[in-house]
Amino acid sequence: MHSSTDRYGPYGGPVQLFYLNKSAPRRPRVERGEGIYLWDTQGRRYIDASSGPVAVNLGHANARVIEASGRQIRKVAYASRMFFENDANAELAEIVTRLAGPGLERAFFVSGGSEATESAMKLARQYAITQGQASRWKVLSRNPSYHGGTMGAVAISGDLVSEAAFGPMTRLMPKVPAPFTYRLPVGHTPETYAEHCANALEATIVREGPETVLAFFMEPVGGLATGALVAPDRYHARVREICSRHSVLLIFDEVMSGAGRTGAFLAAQHWPEARPDIVTLAKGIGAGYTPLGAVLASRAMVDALAEAGGFMHGFTYASNPLSCAIGHAVVSETVDRGLIPNAAAMGTRLRERLEEVQKSSGVMGDIRGKGLLMAIEIVADRDSKAILPARTMAIQRIIELGMERGLLLYSRRTANGLFGEWLMVAPPLIVDAQQVDTIAALIGDTLAAFEKQLKGPVAVGTSL
Ligand SMILES: Cc1ncc(COP(=O)(O)O)c(C=O)c1O
Repeated sequence: MHSSTDRYGPYGGPVQLFYLNKSAPRRPRVERGEGIYLWDTQGRRYIDASSGPVAVNLGHANARVIEASGRQIRKVAYASRMFFENDANAELAEIVTRLAGPGLERAFFVSGGSEATESAMKLARQYAITQGQASRWKVLSRNPSYHGGTMGAVAISGDLVSEAAFGPMTRLMPKVPAPFTYRLPVGHTPETYAEHCANALEATIVREGPETVLAFFMEPVGGLATGALVAPDRYHARVREICSRHSVLLIFDEVMSGAGRTGAFLAAQHWPEARPDIVTLAKGIGAGYTPLGAVLASRAMVDALAEAGGFMHGFTYASNPLSCAIGHAVVSETVDRGLIPNAAAMGTRLRERLEEVQKSSGVMGDIRGKGLLMAIEIVADRDSKAILPARTMAIQRIIELGMERGLLLYSRRTANGLFGEWLMVAPPLIVDAQQVDTIAALIGDTLAAFEKQLKGPVAVGTSL
């Protein structure tokens, strides 16, 4: 780690950087990336085993993306939607909607996941108004869940910590329980608990008054808030049934799960009966090469808005040529290189390798996920599934130990540990079999070192 003045000039890093947490250790400075690897300025190599925050689907320094980006900048980087249509936007919309399939024939491009969430909420609301349903405005979602950092997204994210801080500044929307599969209320199996959660959705719609409920927003495969939660199959059909019965729009947040990561272009495609009305994408469609997000909806929905005066919403960078050209290269490369089936195959291998590691680990409680959107849950005891106390700072320690071993893992302690803590294992979709084995072995090493610390001379509660 660097001292504050070693190479950043007389002001040091901290003056220039906005730190998330002052007590956290300084991070190394990144120098360059290639494939699934990143190097810091000290020459140390790291495996990007979570694709950053589950974004860098193609790995680093992809030649096709670099070429497409340069070509588009030379042609035209930016031209406002006010004055021009642009080819890159049309081409990206064409490939994304083709891969998304029937019912999602229109795409609106924004600059990331939070903007996609805001756009989906506004699209749903405006559509309801065009249908003579102006009484509908409540957007239900799950607890826990994460749909972004902007205030509209805060209102629908099931996050007790964020609600406590920002709740008074927004209008928090009703939440229903997420169908967890690992730590369950007494007497439940994953299937009965999922049924209970689906029933809770219906009960909430009825209690709120169906004529006031606009949409239900959910992640079909969980992201950071639930650690790659995959509900039992039946849950998706039940949710669709309930939403249809009450004319509530079903919105899938595929910011993390979309763009091929789970072994299908949309995670929704694993459950064809779910048929979301609106889908959001981000992360994997820009793959770290540009800030990019999208909202997908049906032709009928978009036409209804267009006839009623158009979508009352936009951003300066919406559908800009440069981001769209990069997105088009990213999605084309994902398809042409067979990275979606690779995500499915490597996901299976990763799970098997992690299961082997789990046999000799006292702290790897659960392994879950789909394709290359996987998570491992960290527990104090595998039998009781008890979580480690906050003072252990388990996640922080594991990240540090991983980085010492050249392994980068994205992690979360959800609601101060109320729902557990986990590490996302979500390497770029270009990962090969040997690299999967290396990642699993490094995770094994890292967790073994952590367990040794728990038992050894470094007292629990001591920051590293
Ligand atoms: C499921 C989900 N939705 C929305 C977002 C917000 O995306 P962004 O950080 O690009 O605004 C995220 C980010 O992690 C996410 O995982």
